Amino acid sequence: MVTKASNSSLQEAKKAKRDEFYTQLPDIERELRHYKTHFEGKVVYCNCDDPRVSSFFHYFSYNFEKLGLKKLITTCYKSQDRDLFSQNDSESAVYLEYEGDRNLNNVPDVEEIGVKPLMGDGDFRSTECVELLKQADIVVTNPPFSLFREYVAQLMEHNKKFLIIGHQNAIKYKGIFPLIKDNRLWLGYGFTRNMAQFMSSYENTMTDLDRQEGMIRISGVQWFTNLDTTKRHEDLILYRSYNPDDYPTYDNFDAIEVSKTVDIPMDYPGVMGVPITFLEKYNPDQFEIVGTSQSWDEQRSKAYPPQVQVSADGRKSTVMKLNDAPALQLQSPPAGKTYYAVGGDYFQAVYARILIRNKRL
Ligand SMILES: C[S@@+](CC[C@H](N)C(=O)[O-])C[C@H]1O[C@@H](n2cnc3c(N)ncnc32)[C@H](O)[C@@H]1O
Repeated sequence: MVTKASNSSLQEAKKAKRDEFYTQLPDIERELRHYKTHFEGKVVYCNCDDPRVSSFFHYFSYNFEKLGLKKLITTCYKSQDRDLFSQNDSESAVYLEYEGDRNLNNVPDVEEIGVKPLMGDGDFRSTECVELLKQADIVVTNPPFSLFREYVAQLMEHNKKFLIIGHQNAIKYKGIFPLIKDNRLWLGYGFTRNMAQFMSSYENTMTDLDRQEGMIRISGVQWFTNLDTTKRHEDLILYRSYNPDDYPTYDNFDAIEVSKTVDIPMDYPGVMGVPITFLEKYNPDQFEIVGTSQSWDEQRSKAYPPQVQVSADGRKSTVMKLNDAPALQLQSPPAGKTYYAVGGDYFQAVYARILIRNKRL
């Protein structure tokens, strides 16, 4: 029997995962229009998609002929732990194969869409879903953010092409960043201001102006892909010149700090620390990614002893935080800003950075 206490902790756990939100068709159309040439003669697999609610299924079934697809496969997950947030009320997980508009009425009809029950729960890692994955050429979906690492690892293991939605925090993950660095994974065209609205029954925290019933807004969302785009072969136009005052050198990396991507100097041949959002402009012919400032990356060169962190309001605490960020040495303690004191030296930590080098210098 599920007690009240254990039931509520289960609800909390499910809430914490927050994977139940649905992509809007216009967002899919806006991204997918850049990839049309990749789909001719291909088997597309959407493996986190209930065809009854998935706009990915809608997009590919209605554009099946236009894209020249060979087959569309969709599987949906039926969580074994039903909760308030599960929207799919079918008895079992389902599996669907669509091979085009046979009766030429321009609509994917019920008789053309073979919906069958799955034996298991439709988990993308289950044997039956992996068998379907093996048949697929390109995987396109918005997978559960909470399983993103594992999801991408599976695609890589099976050597699949993909175009998927994820959170930009994933860029910093140990299992994801090395793929970006090695040009095996990159960002797509993306959402306006990296923000997207999804259909969901989660609590709506949008401001009154853009509040819409049944929608949530999530910031920092990106498309991740290994399908080539024209965008990633466009050069970033550089116009600034290097000088040591505007581009200080980190204390813990042999690199200069470039706090905005647009300010990357055109004439600096060494390693530069740039914001994560640089990846939206990354052209692998122009720049090489040499590492990241995350503490797990091999680029990390110097570790500090425990530091005294002095907060803007003067509070002091002993921390190791400086070892998780690029550090800029300061001449004197800054007024009204958090800084770190190590021995007699003062430092400021900057946000996580990607370390890059201009390949053309
Ligand atoms: C972010 S939602 C997106 C849903 C849909 N792909 C869309 O874009 O509208 C992620 C979906 O993955 C499903 N999911 C969670 N765990 C899963 C698993 N292990 N295998 C397959 N799907 C899973 C969730 O139920 C949820 O519907």
